[in-house]
Amino acid sequence: MKMMSLLWTKSLLFLLPIPCLCSSQPSPPLLRFSAFLDHSNMVFMRWDHDEEEMMTFELQVRTVGWVAFGFSPHGELPGSDIVIGGVFPNGSIYFSDWHAVDEENLKEDKSQDYQLLSLTEDETFTTMRFKRYFQTCDPNDLDITGDTTRLISAFGTNDTVQFSKGQRFLKSLFLMRVTSPTELNEPQIFFTYDLKLNDFPIPVDETTYACTFIPLPILKQKHHIYKFEPIITTHQNRLMAHHILVYACGNGSVLPTGISDCYGADPDFALCSQVVVGWAVGGGSYQFPNEAAISIGTPMDPQYIRLEIHYSNFDLIPGLIDNSGIRLYCTPDLRPYDIGVLQTGVFTFPVHFIPPGADSYKSYGLCKSSQFNEMNGTPVPDLKVFGFLLHTHLAGRGVKVVQYRNGEQVRIICEDNTYDFSLQETRDMKEVITIEVGDEILVECDFQTLDRTEITFGGPSTLNEMCLAFLFYYPRNNISSCMGYPDIQQIAHALGQEASDAMEGMIAMNYVEWNNETIKTAEKAAKEADQIVMIKTIDVSVLCLYLAEWLGDGETRSSLEFETKEKEEPGDYRPVSLTSIPGKLLEQ
Ligand SMILES: *[C@@H]1O[C@H](CO)[C@@H](O)[C@H](O)[C@H]1NC(C)=O
Ligand SMILES: *[C@@H]1O[C@H](CO)[C@@H](O)[C@H](O)[C@H]1NC(C)=O
Ligand SMILES: *[C@@H]1O[C@H](CO)[C@@H](O)[C@H](O)[C@H]1NC(C)=O
Ligand SMILES: *[C@@H]1O[C@H](CO)[C@@H](O)[C@H](O)[C@H]1NC(C)=O
Ligand SMILES: *[C@@H]1O[C@H](CO)[C@@H](O)[C@H](O)[C@H]1NC(C)=O
Repeated sequence: MKMMSLLWTKSLLFLLPIPCLCSSQPSPPLLRFSAFLDHSNMVFMRWDHDEEEMMTFELQVRTVGWVAFGFSPHGELPGSDIVIGGVFPNGSIYFSDWHAVDEENLKEDKSQDYQLLSLTEDETFTTMRFKRYFQTCDPNDLDITGDTTRLISAFGTNDTVQFSKGQRFLKSLFLMRVTSPTELNEPQIFFTYDLKLNDFPIPVDETTYACTFIPLPILKQKHHIYKFEPIITTHQNRLMAHHILVYACGNGSVLPTGISDCYGADPDFALCSQVVVGWAVGGGSYQFPNEAAISIGTPMDPQYIRLEIHYSNFDLIPGLIDNSGIRLYCTPDLRPYDIGVLQTGVFTFPVHFIPPGADSYKSYGLCKSSQFNEMNGTPVPDLKVFGFLLHTHLAGRGVKVVQYRNGEQVRIICEDNTYDFSLQETRDMKEVITIEVGDEILVECDFQTLDRTEITFGGPSTLNEMCLAFLFYYPRNNISSCMGYPDIQQIAHALGQEASDAMEGMIAMNYVEWNNETIKTAEKAAKEADQIVMIKTIDVSVLCLYLAEWLGDGETRSSLEFETKEKEEPGDYRPVSLTSIPGKLLEQ
């Protein structure tokens, strides 16, 4: 604090001339994106970016005192890059680029990399518009990237800047948005349809996955679902619904009724695996690009959905009644293409493990698409991928999805190196990319378990882990998921453990003495091990064992071999049972 005030009076005060807003000047460009940065709607931000890699921000804060805005490395104050400005009572303005050296003190940057565009104040608001490049050359500034950013905002009630005494907020946001709501077509004719729970009593448990099956509207002709909007019940200003997933189901005849634990005693409540929309805390509504939408109302289309609401009731509050869900927007005004969703990543079950005490541990799941035509029934057209949703649980720090063709890396399809569990949302790709049959898709997830003393296993609870990437594409095909996992026996052997089958391999992980060396050995073995690839269609499942040999950094691999295959009867929407995996991975 002292240091701050000291510096403040000594060096600072860039007294800038108030920019001329004369009528002859063009009005400032419209900023396409906006969000509140706090819970009580005091700090409103608009932003936009351009071809020159310049990001423009406008902060409108409910105060006549100082306002601050900046970027934090992972949510903490030390190392944050902060800009502070305001208007003195006499009309002079101040604006300057700072960085936080520790929890208490800010220091002014030698290199001033934020350019002030305007700074005004009325009785209620201070409005500060400024811009900066994604990358500056100042080590005290943080780069603006395509990852999730942690934004810090703060303000005080007067113009004596005391950063640590102001109100301060932290919010995760994805800044590199591409499409603004105004660029999307709203159809002339539409109706809404709510998929939600009715007066659901939230269990007094830390984690609940509530699932129910809801019929989609019955329609005489094909319609398109073009937009989703969250319907969230708040409980004394708290959000209990943590995330919501909507899965498409075929025919309702095999589905259970009522509401139950998604991953509990009745496995039928986990039926249907194709995610069509995801919402998570911090997310808003999502609308598909103009050329495509989800088809309903034809015999090929889902008739039911599974609504999965993940509640976090960490304070074990009793008696909460919830009516959360998702609102669909449907139109008979059809777009050129139907949308499909491909689930890729690490198959979610306990063969996926993460050692304790790891600063960084990477997991790999491979999708090999060479069997797609056979499984689909007809040749699969190229997948035009326009959006993605990344999903891990609490230990996840990053997710990367990489595409390979003929053993060569084609591109990183999408990534988030500063993943935030509380911000899972569908994001648009910068440009539509193409996946061809035969391509491989590798999903790499980075986990941190420094706070854990036990192994974390793959599984549905928030205390377990997942490593998933949902790719949104058109035109749709029948494949719903394509996921892999490394052969755990090979990992066990690399760690000097005996394991004659996968079950033993899994158990063997408990006997490993985990330190940074064994963690690295396990990670390397998991990366280089054969992958068992599992492909599911909307109504059939096939299990394929691929022998993957990864060379170097995973950039090239020998061709993968197709080994075994099992089919379920068409019409059975049950996910492939885990016991059908060769090697008896799970004895039930
Ligand atoms: C306005 O007030 C500030 C802070 O009290 C002072 O530093 C500045 O010199 C004043 N400006 C003018 C033009 O009086
Ligand atoms: C400005 O606000 C701070 C915090 O509310 C307060 O401690 C300080 O006395 C105020 N300064 C002036 C000059 O009013
Ligand atoms: C659902 O599928 C079953 C078997 O494929 C069929 O007998 C039944 O008529 C279907 N029900 C509906 C509502 O389409
Ligand atoms: C899905 O599978 C059915 C039956 O195998 C096939 O007739 C249909 O063309 C497939 N759909 C797509 C979009 O490929
Ligand atoms: C690995 O090293 C980090 C420091 O880099 C340490 O915090 C952590 O406890 C170590 N993990 C284990 C399992 O020893």
